[in-house]
Amino acid sequence: MSQQHSAAPASDTVAVRGDWWRDAVIYQVYPRSFADGDGDGMGDLEGVRTRLPYLRDLGVDAVWLSPFYASPQADAGYDVADYRAVDPMFGTLLDADALIRDAHALGLRIIVDLVPNHSSDQHEWFKRALAEGPGSPSRDRYHFRPGKGAAGELPPNDWESIFGGPAWTRVTEPDGTPGDWYLHLFAPEQPDFNWEHPAVGDEFRSILRFWLDMGVDGFRIDVAHGMVKAAGLPDLGSHDHLTLLANDVTPFFDQDGVHEIYRQWRRILDEYPGERIFVAEAWTPTVERTANYVRPDELHQAFNFQYLATAWDAASLREVIDRTLDAMRPVGAPATWVLSNHDVTRHATRFANEPGLGTQIRLAGDRELGLRRARAATLLMLALPGSAYVYQGEELGLPDVVDLPDEVRQDPAYFRGAGQDGFRDGCRVPIPWTRTGPSYGFGPAGTWLPQPPTWADLSVESQTGVPDSTLELYRTALAVRRSEPDLGAGDAVEWLPAPEGVLAFRRGDFICAANTGDTPVTVPSYGRLLLSSAEPPSTPGAETTLPPNTTTWWTTA
Ligand code: GLC
Repeated sequence: MSQQHSAAPASDTVAVRGDWWRDAVIYQVYPRSFADGDGDGMGDLEGVRTRLPYLRDLGVDAVWLSPFYASPQADAGYDVADYRAVDPMFGTLLDADALIRDAHALGLRIIVDLVPNHSSDQHEWFKRALAEGPGSPSRDRYHFRPGKGAAGELPPNDWESIFGGPAWTRVTEPDGTPGDWYLHLFAPEQPDFNWEHPAVGDEFRSILRFWLDMGVDGFRIDVAHGMVKAAGLPDLGSHDHLTLLANDVTPFFDQDGVHEIYRQWRRILDEYPGERIFVAEAWTPTVERTANYVRPDELHQAFNFQYLATAWDAASLREVIDRTLDAMRPVGAPATWVLSNHDVTRHATRFANEPGLGTQIRLAGDRELGLRRARAATLLMLALPGSAYVYQGEELGLPDVVDLPDEVRQDPAYFRGAGQDGFRDGCRVPIPWTRTGPSYGFGPAGTWLPQPPTWADLSVESQTGVPDSTLELYRTALAVRRSEPDLGAGDAVEWLPAPEGVLAFRRGDFICAANTGDTPVTVPSYGRLLLSSAEPPSTPGAETTLPPNTTTWWTTA
């Protein structure tokens, strides 16, 4: 594949604009899989720090780091034992401080992950709740309940864990008898906080201040739709199996009470200088419900999972784009766009398979086709108004690793038999930096999950300077996005008439045209080509033939 590049110059510093987050491109680092600074096979903060120039040169505005706090790692750090400490596996608070400072010096902002729905079962509060026994006030910070049945042998309600099995675990009381049950929407090692208890809110407001004082530029809020449960914890009733991506109304997700928490948090954030932001991980039934999280006095952004879950199909994409922009406009929040993260099958693999299989698949599919569509999907995403998220490794065109041996898997969903089959490990394999070396430059030693040998050719080193590589496509696209003020800005697109399978829209002088079909399509010429995700379209006279599964950027200026 070859592509036409614009001559947009790479800039040395990131311009600091007002409302930077409205059109920011934010890069997700999954710390254990990004870069290993100390050679233990696990990525760490020092690894991230030393690779910040790579991210600056890639052209992103901010970096969101998945959790690096003290944790027994029952769910890869989303089980936090101490919210104010760095896990030794990732480094120290001094390393976090150095990372934040270096990022700022390079013009990059740092967003950290906040996990307020649940703690680790090794958190001091939970250990105390277990030790102090039934009826103790320390239990009120979590959801402890007596079981049902003659001897309390049945869970208090019918809720299931997102990772499989009941959402309740029975404890053995300090006197050795079977006792109360506690709620965990995720793994048993992740007990849910009781947000009705004032100490929980106080604690999280203090944790926010701790990291704001450290200089972070924002927070990604984990399970932002989960903290408040319906009063009385009513049964769910008959229901299909729930997954992490469940988009249903339930008594434990998307309850209206969460919004009061965010109004309080917003007031704290606004006390701090600089433009700091919150982004919600909120899986809601509709994008209209998602918009509630980004009302002017609440959070700044929410992930657009409806977009992530949309197939590579012009009609479906147009519908979700319109619906998103229409939902966000009344609340004045930017739309966000995301194709991959650490919880779903990478989009190069999703698009390699038949549509309709969902976002959790372990089939390699047609890799070449998947990569071609992934590149096209990325150019479409980066042309839309709003903020875009890039998950580490997608700029290398990495596929999911679909054939990891069972013995290396770590996703708790795998062990809980959620029917998810350990799907999340496949998108978490450490990324390749160099063509050779024990872990393709991830670190001086091995890796916590094995990398396929084919990843030598997908490494940063192999792709750098290769004009048609996926890495250079991302670099060019991000440079064009910076130099074309119409990209990212605003809250609307002007659709142009287009044949079936093609999406074409204008934003000022800029035009984006995507052919999502498997055959070439002829359209009227759009102007001067800026960039193509695949071979350049042929442009005889007043017509242009768009190659299949290709997105093109044009300017009429
Ligand atoms: C979020 C995270 C996911 C984690 C879950 C429980 O969905 O993205 O990785 O397992 O929350 O914290």
